[in-house]
Amino acid sequence: MSLKGKKIILGVTGSIAAYKSALLTRILVKAGAEVQIIMSASAFDFITPLTLATLSKRPVLSQFQKDDTGVWNNHVELGLWADLFLVAPISANTLAKFANGLCDNLLTATYLSARCPVMIAPAMDLDMYQHPSVLANIHKLESFGNILLDAESGELASGLSGQGRMMEPENILARIQEFFSGKSDFQGKKVLITMGPTQEALDPVRYISNHSSGKMGLALAHAFKGRGAEVYIVSGPISLTVNRCDFHWQDVKSAKEMYEKSLSIHREMDICVFAAAVADYGPAEVAPEKIKKNETSLVINLVKNVDIAASLGEKKRADQIHVGFALETENEVDNAKKKLAKKNFDIIVLNSMKESGAGFQLDTNKVRVFHASGLMVESKVAPKNQIANLILDQIKNIPVWV
Ligand code: PMT
Repeated sequence: MSLKGKKIILGVTGSIAAYKSALLTRILVKAGAEVQIIMSASAFDFITPLTLATLSKRPVLSQFQKDDTGVWNNHVELGLWADLFLVAPISANTLAKFANGLCDNLLTATYLSARCPVMIAPAMDLDMYQHPSVLANIHKLESFGNILLDAESGELASGLSGQGRMMEPENILARIQEFFSGKSDFQGKKVLITMGPTQEALDPVRYISNHSSGKMGLALAHAFKGRGAEVYIVSGPISLTVNRCDFHWQDVKSAKEMYEKSLSIHREMDICVFAAAVADYGPAEVAPEKIKKNETSLVINLVKNVDIAASLGEKKRADQIHVGFALETENEVDNAKKKLAKKNFDIIVLNSMKESGAGFQLDTNKVRVFHASGLMVESKVAPKNQIANLILDQIKNIPVWV
């Protein structure tokens, strides 16, 4: 989608990820947007204004006053000029200032004057990003309606590895395009998404689980919401930063709890997406006390858990749509097609543990979507938010879609 005519303020703050704001500026301008850069003082330590001015084709602003002229850079006008106020990267320091109304530089003053939507793309080190004060500031900004472009996981500048990398510029561009496209083709639809792993307790301190992070489910939740749907989430334990108030959100632990919560709302739903990685088996009994390390080996008796998708598939009405996922390591297509039929799905989304860039925990996925009608669509490796939108587009190809 072209961003022609869209006016975007791009705030750049002091973070090593500021180097990515050069590429971000370039692709926003290439997409047609007018980009006005405002840098915080610390951003100058990481990237030069000359680079950003050249790429944005506009002088970079950073001070209240224009040189020594006595003429000021009017933050109120700037705030009213913009169709979108984006800060990428936003540092922990600027997050804290935004969250508390501090106003000691042009960027923070413009934030307080902006009437347009605000997007923030944090970048910081692993432990900083997990710190309760940073999380509280992010939640506060989300409660103001600011849109979080959540940090991605990977190698960090410190050498640590985990969540904290600024969202890649291409993904930010996709989110902005999605935002301005204002598609509301799922308006009026109620959607249930099961997501994340389940935890099956062995004793009061241990459980059986898997590596699902909930990222695919959350990307679907945002895509449905962004396209107008009312979204109901039943989520296993996850550690993503998420504003639960955007959705009807139920946290659960076990497959049984996930089933009960899903069953209780299934009748009201138009679309159900089963993205959760549900444990197929759980301990037959939960030990009341911590299992002691007495023997050289331990045998645990496991029993089959309820199959949520299959059970709700038996109750599916002709006007409901069910979307399943398959995570396979062998005979992928055969297994996926068997699940499609057995669980009464309309489509099944196959992701493979063998494909690089696909599956658990990653910010990207690569999928093949099989329709009950025989149609098949394959994606490239792409960010999970793009894959989510591809799945939504495929839902609209299902015959019962109206
Ligand atoms: O969360 P991420 O880290 O982003 O990773 C995403 C993902 C890989 C977990 C996701 O894309 C995915 O593939 N989820 C389904 C994984 C899985 O459990 O597949 P399965 O082949 O075992 O199950 C088939 C389908 O039945 C799935 O829709 C599953 O949700 C559902 N199911 C399975 C077992 C069960 N007891 N109840 C179910 O509802």
